[in-house]
Amino acid sequence: MPIIYDEALKTFYLETSQTSYVFCVQHAGFLQHLYYGKLISREDISDLLPVLRAAPRYDAEGKAFSLDTMPGNEYSTFGLGDYREIALRITYADGSRNNDFKYDSYEILPEKPKLEGLPSLRDGETLLIRMKDGDCELRLYYTVYEQENAIVRHAELQNFGTEQIEINSVMSAELDLWGEDYDAITLGGRYSYERDIVKTPISQGIFSVDSKQGYSSHKTNPFMAIAQKGATEYTGDVYAVNLVYSGSFKASVESTPCGHHDLKMTRMLIGINDFDFSWKLDPGETFTSPEAVYVYSDCGFTKMSQSFHDLYRNYLINPKHVNKHPIVLNSWEGVYFDFDDEKICGLIDKAAMLGVDTFVLDDGWFGNRNDDRTSLGDWYVNENKLKGGLNVLISRCKKQGINFGIWIEPEMISEESELYRAHPDWVIRAGERIYCRERNQCVLDFANPQVVSYIKKVIGDLLENHDISYVKWDMNRPLTEYFSLVLPKDRQKELMHRYVLGVYELAEYLTTRFPDVFFEGCAGGGGRFDPGVLYYFPQIWASDNTDAGAREKIQYGTSLCYPLSAISGHVSVCPCHMNGRTTPIKSRFDIASLCSTGYELNLSELKEEDFAQFRQNVARYKEISDIIYKGDLYRLKSPFESNYFAEIVVSKDKEKAFGVCGIMKIDGLRPAVSIVKFKGLDKTFLYRIKETGKIYRGDILENVGISVGFYSDFATESFTLERVK
Ligand code: GLA
Repeated sequence: MPIIYDEALKTFYLETSQTSYVFCVQHAGFLQHLYYGKLISREDISDLLPVLRAAPRYDAEGKAFSLDTMPGNEYSTFGLGDYREIALRITYADGSRNNDFKYDSYEILPEKPKLEGLPSLRDGETLLIRMKDGDCELRLYYTVYEQENAIVRHAELQNFGTEQIEINSVMSAELDLWGEDYDAITLGGRYSYERDIVKTPISQGIFSVDSKQGYSSHKTNPFMAIAQKGATEYTGDVYAVNLVYSGSFKASVESTPCGHHDLKMTRMLIGINDFDFSWKLDPGETFTSPEAVYVYSDCGFTKMSQSFHDLYRNYLINPKHVNKHPIVLNSWEGVYFDFDDEKICGLIDKAAMLGVDTFVLDDGWFGNRNDDRTSLGDWYVNENKLKGGLNVLISRCKKQGINFGIWIEPEMISEESELYRAHPDWVIRAGERIYCRERNQCVLDFANPQVVSYIKKVIGDLLENHDISYVKWDMNRPLTEYFSLVLPKDRQKELMHRYVLGVYELAEYLTTRFPDVFFEGCAGGGGRFDPGVLYYFPQIWASDNTDAGAREKIQYGTSLCYPLSAISGHVSVCPCHMNGRTTPIKSRFDIASLCSTGYELNLSELKEEDFAQFRQNVARYKEISDIIYKGDLYRLKSPFESNYFAEIVVSKDKEKAFGVCGIMKIDGLRPAVSIVKFKGLDKTFLYRIKETGKIYRGDILENVGISVGFYSDFATESFTLERVK
């Protein structure tokens, strides 16, 4: 029973195995947040909170108070004297905007309801709170995941009135904390350097990260943690939130003195970006916000990450595929657009010799596509290049005992395409006005149901008529212009969210109709790496940058919130096409082993001795993949904070582990030496390190550690540990 309601105290206790989340219905009917943190006993804590002077005051039953100085608001609304960033802002039919929602009732649902049109986590006991303001009902949902120490929230608004109302802002969740100073940890970056870990001290004012691009983007991620000052991987309070959404979002944290007092108040909000957003809610209609996932860790970031990883593997990612990620050879960096049947068949033969599971034909196979200027939207094979069509390639794969995969970019259209000639009105742009292109392409209007059904049909036919077991779904540019021909002028600000709903509708349709097909998400590298995508696609291409040094940081940052199995990474050639850097072959193997792995190079150009090493690496990955997909990650040394990095993944039963440590640059004499102290092992077990043949007990590996010498920049060492009985 993770959800308990104490009638006498009017208090809700949401409990996981290690955390408590407590709020009550206060005397005026608002929901007051009381506590989030380590598991505590179920007692009255309301009178422990400071009682502060109120101005302006909200008078209820002669007990005046202020929503601005009430220490914790559970879901703040506009207009009643709370001057911070707020969760909900609605304009009613008469133009008024004081959103005075009061508690009405609660229900405990044994099963978590699915969110209409949106990706959401499965299962879990759910608390539903109903709040009312006139004819408008606000429903707050809380689902508790006991073992993963997570709470998932979202909000719904229903208009029971007779006139249309307008939602100006609706956040998915809010968390109010008080009394401490925090650092905000966010995932920043840019194209080719995604999910850079950014730490920002929070002092008085608002700090936010957001996307206005229509997708979660390369520069930001719908993740934010606020951490006690000085928190490390293994110490300190951390409150983290992640939004199950792939469109324009906003995550903010605001620190302010409480009214006239010096008590610090910190408010964290996350939801659909209210910048250029508004939604008209007609009588009877409901608006559903995306879900926000909360995780609290009392001992630093590694525990926070483990909660997210377990939660997403157990309740978000498709159970059919979560632990079975095909090892691929992808054609992109190997041949780009320059191929024909013969070249591809040669690669397929080599892929089979390498020992991978699937050959993936990337961009360039359709329409008249020989570069990035044409053909997006024409999802039929380019028979000038591939004379026998896709079936010749598929047969070659089958003959070689491997599967066939394909690249698509279903949300896009090239102006030089059959589709564009037939439907120029299907593009997102403002009539005849100038419009932006990126990579020579435009975005299809997924707010238009006709567009979504057309793409369902063509991609559906492609998958129906070919034996394709893997689809890489790309999205190579952000939205601009924000104008849809199918929306009335007063609903144009609904476009960005409607676009995302259209993308989800297509993803839901294809993944349901083709349940055996493995989908990989991608957006010009890692521009759409979020739990919304992960719900449909079990892994996401993390970055176009395949350099081992860059990847170490990109994957390390991504692992803050997302499991290693969700991170797709490939071994490529040197010098790396993105940054021109040459890294040791072993480093490329090791770093690409800390994720769902693959290869992306022209195997036909590999020297024989290198090919043999590649083969051995595929074989090693097959041995350790289970640890990577299912194990617990412990980050040991951060490449963001030092010249070294180290990570280890330990199987749940602690019988096996795989770790990698490495150096970024050698500054002085060779070898540069680092001591790696493992974590997560059973202290009493004896472990054999396969690479050295040596045997040590867990407590020795954790407390004394292993010294490793590095002889070149970006060198790595790997450790495959197995319990000796
Ligand atoms: C994007 C992807 C790449 C590749 C190209 C093809 O950049 O991130 O992996 O698929 O598109 O055009």
